[in-house]
Amino acid sequence: MEKKDYKGSVEQIEQIALETYKLIISSSLKEAIPGQFISILCPNKTLRRPFSIAHFDSEKNELTVLFKLKGEGTNYIANLKKGDVVNFLAPLGNGFELVNKKALLVGAGIGIAPMLFLKKELDKKNIDNYFIAGFKNNEEVIKGADKTVVGGSVLDDIDSIIEEKKIELIYSCGPNIVLKKLADIALKKNIESQLALERVMACSIGVCRGCVIKLIKKQEIVTASVCKDGPVFLGSEIIWD
Ligand SMILES: Cc1cc2nc3c(=O)[nH]c(=O)nc-3n(C[C@H](O)[C@H](O)[C@H](O)COP(=O)(O)OP(=O)(O)OC[C@H]3O[C@@H](n4cnc5c(N)ncnc54)[C@H](O)[C@@H]3O)c2cc1C
Ligand code: FES
Repeated sequence: MEKKDYKGSVEQIEQIALETYKLIISSSLKEAIPGQFISILCPNKTLRRPFSIAHFDSEKNELTVLFKLKGEGTNYIANLKKGDVVNFLAPLGNGFELVNKKALLVGAGIGIAPMLFLKKELDKKNIDNYFIAGFKNNEEVIKGADKTVVGGSVLDDIDSIIEEKKIELIYSCGPNIVLKKLADIALKKNIESQLALERVMACSIGVCRGCVIKLIKKQEIVTASVCKDGPVFLGSEIIWD
């Protein structure tokens, strides 16, 4: 679907965990897939703020994002009220490829957002899946996973879960350190991993080259922009910094 500038309105904004908000936007956006994101325009800020789509309701034309407070942009969004206008670009990037394989979903911290959307779409297609999410503490927990790890690492029991559940494919979003470890685990176990990366973005549409990473494809090193070619990449192709 072609990306476009949308003018939506706030349907709902609420705090759901420590410094974490849920924003539901009503707009004319007709479709989106898990892993894609939107980029919200904040007043007096040249750079839009990117957020993963955490849910898309095609009947109501509503999309949901979950976000953590960080700086001025996210504080502005957290203070929006029902009915306020939201300007955003969408749908951005390439999302996860839904494959009919037993899937493990791993969401670390606010990285749970796109995984919640992915889980719903996998369930709709009756694709067997198991979803683990990890958070630093109880106050930050966002519900929705089959297993929630608080305090420890979301990867602590990952090997045994992969074996027990006969996992054939790993999907994840979270900090680079978690994604890199998952890419290594998947390679060792000879299973595919699809990982949603996060990079500081300026244009969000593949023009500025500010979010470029290196990939290895067919033994050749190539570059790709996280905003346009990603944010989802095969773990086996990512060259980690
Ligand atoms: C593809 C993608 C999806 C994302 N999805 C989510 C999500 O679902 N929920 C969520 O809470 N956050 C998400 N982020 C991170 C989110 O974009 C930043 O937290 C947000 O832009 C911070 O803006 P700020 O003005 O509050 O912070 P500031 O620190 O004031 O931002 C200053 C500048 O740095 C950029 N920036 C700061 N932190 C990040 C970051 N971690 N990633 C990218 N750019 C950053 C901002 O966009 C802005 O241009 C995502 C980032 C990307 C790239
Ligand atoms: S942010 Fe400009 S190319 Fe990705």
